[in-house]
Amino acid sequence: MQEPIYKPEYKDKSIRSFVIRAGRITDGQRRAFEQWWPKYGLSLYSGAQDFDQLFGRKAPKVMEVGFGMGDSLLEMAKAEPEKDFIGIEVHPPGVGRLINNAGLEGVENLRVYMADANDVLEDCIADASLDRFQLYFPDPWHKKKHNKRRIVNSGFIQKVSDKLCHAGICHMATDWEPYAEHMMETMSAAEQFENTQGDYLFSERPDFRPVTKFERRGDRLGHGVWDLLFRKR
Ligand SMILES: C[S@@+](CC[C@H](N)C(=O)[O-])C[C@H]1O[C@@H](n2cnc3c(N)ncnc32)[C@H](O)[C@@H]1O
Repeated sequence: MQEPIYKPEYKDKSIRSFVIRAGRITDGQRRAFEQWWPKYGLSLYSGAQDFDQLFGRKAPKVMEVGFGMGDSLLEMAKAEPEKDFIGIEVHPPGVGRLINNAGLEGVENLRVYMADANDVLEDCIADASLDRFQLYFPDPWHKKKHNKRRIVNSGFIQKVSDKLCHAGICHMATDWEPYAEHMMETMSAAEQFENTQGDYLFSERPDFRPVTKFERRGDRLGHGVWDLLFRKR
């Protein structure tokens, strides 16, 4: 059993895709961590994980990176109880909210890292072990000088490819058109993947993806939405 943690885990690196937002953890969030982190929380520093053993079964595995406040991930985990879900997020209030709600609803097919997804992919996830990878509305880093902080780049996509099993799905969505184009170019250049929709085509939102919190915000601002659905060859 692990001790509750309140701070995201990450290794030193020169460029990160996130900023650690300031702010103290509230009493409610602290209680959520104390009660539910031992059940749902996983540590980057535990290294390679045997998820079949952890979940006590051999089931398809879905990983979501940057789940934000976690409501859509929880909805998906409840909608597909035959699959096991692994969420990664660096924002403690979002992690606290997700594990609290999951705990109160008795959800069993979910585990969570509060850590940098790059580190978790490298250190904790076995090659060819994931059936679906989800990245919804990653921070767009709008300014040109910040584009290098975007989580989607060829190195990240290589890591995702290594972790997906044969015919595994990589699903991304964004509401920022230049980022959608960047995602499409990066994925189309990755020979390990084929676009399920045809070359350079975006997808409709698939039924399994709920509308996310960030997406609703974009919707109010009049943003479009671009989904990308690629399959590992
Ligand atoms: C714009 S929010 C979108 C949240 C959610 N997917 C939604 O649609 O409502 C992007 C999230 O990704 C998280 N994030 C960014 N880089 C990350 C990383 N390297 N590892 C884990 N989470 C990350 C941020 O903390 C943030 O909560």
